[in-house]
Amino acid sequence: MNVLEIAKQAAIEAGAYIRANFHSSIEVREKSSSFDVVTEVDIGSEKLIKQFILDRRPDHVFLGEEETYVKGSLDALMDEACDRPYMWIVDPIDGTSNFVHGLPGFSISIALACHGILTVGVVYDPLRDILYWAEKGKGAWCDGKPIHVSDTDNLARSIVSTGFPSEPRAREAVLASMQEIGKRSRTVRSFGSAALHLAYVAAGNLGAHWQYGLSVWDIAAGILLVQEAGGRVSNMKGEGYTLADKDVIASNSKHHPELLTWLKPLDRNG
Ligand code: IPD
Ligand code: CA
Ligand code: CA
Repeated sequence: MNVLEIAKQAAIEAGAYIRANFHSSIEVREKSSSFDVVTEVDIGSEKLIKQFILDRRPDHVFLGEEETYVKGSLDALMDEACDRPYMWIVDPIDGTSNFVHGLPGFSISIALACHGILTVGVVYDPLRDILYWAEKGKGAWCDGKPIHVSDTDNLARSIVSTGFPSEPRAREAVLASMQEIGKRSRTVRSFGSAALHLAYVAAGNLGAHWQYGLSVWDIAAGILLVQEAGGRVSNMKGEGYTLADKDVIASNSKHHPELLTWLKPLDRNG
């Protein structure tokens, strides 16, 4: 089984497990704050995906959100992992808040980076049974059909999206940026799964997604989807995305210059 197939099958298996546990009574634990929650299903999904991948590629490095939370120090882990030839970056449920509140709008995000370069990305919506995938240099797909970003350059004719991070400063930056972008776009959505938002940008449903305070597992797979669907992904300075970026704009590329005028880099040291 090649790495793309491994990512797809792992996502589908984890999706079946998550679907089977949706609406069951599950204990919700708060991690850094009440804005940042986890359940046994997140942990179970991550274990399942990890085992699926490492059974088939035992020499690869695995970076999963929940395991990393327990180990701490993502930066140190990333430094080490970025040197490795194969690093899987996994969010076992992106949109846990929706999951625990019985709302749709969560996904599984699985990416593979080779020496820090994204090469495979899969985002799976288990409730709608929709699978998005991309391979570097080979395009982006949704359920077997090629997808492309939208081609409008008029923000007033695009729906754009953002998300609410748990980090307080980043949340303030999101709220401030909505003032400007909310006035200029057709409307702004926040469905609660960064990975799914990026898949919607790749598929042309949304013109752009931006957010401050993201983690690499939220977006690694979705970023490759957007890039392979013809879009542009940058940090708030307009520099090309790297795995270390937390504040990100992903667009159909035509909206990028305008969005960069409204979105300012967040100084976390000040
Ligand atoms: C969250 C979702 C949400 C985004 C948050 C993320 P989680 O991930 O992607 O859309 O706004 O910043 O933390 O916690 O549900 O995996
Ligand atoms: Ca996430
Ligand atoms: Ca998650």
